[in-house]
Amino acid sequence: MQKKEITFILNGKKVWVEVKPYEKLLDVLRDKLGVKSPKYGCGRGECGACSVLLDGKAIRSCIVYAIEVDGHEVTTVEGLQANGLTPLQKSFLAHNSFQCGFCAPGMIIQATELLNENPHPDEEEIREYIAGNLCRCTGYNPIVEAILDVAKKG
Ligand code: FES
Ligand code: FES
Repeated sequence: MQKKEITFILNGKKVWVEVKPYEKLLDVLRDKLGVKSPKYGCGRGECGACSVLLDGKAIRSCIVYAIEVDGHEVTTVEGLQANGLTPLQKSFLAHNSFQCGFCAPGMIIQATELLNENPHPDEEEIREYIAGNLCRCTGYNPIVEAILDVAKKG
């Protein structure tokens, strides 16, 4: 199948990459562009491990075709921390919100979107917002506490 060159802003820099029409954004980010924070969990849009921001909105990069981001802006955790850890990341560390860490990049992306849209969410709003991001280790409480802490201070 014919390849197409796409151009988009990745973590603040313009990138060009040749993709096949059926290639998913997650695979292109990880395998062609060396951006490893988005993780392959379910591959079906159900776990949130592959979440990235597309024009500021959290999306599941395992179910988005790479050609769909042509001309758009994609941000991953690497981009968020370009100038050092964000308050949210620091809060995750302070609250021991990771165990294996597999869910962490997706959680950070999802919580970043939440705090951008609503800087002071309450606990219920946080739980609802991250409900689609699965964590098999923490029981979610340390994650919610980390986000809540930033929401209270922010
Ligand atoms: S890997 Fe994309 S949602 Fe699970
Ligand atoms: S820390 Fe292991 S899946 Fe969340």
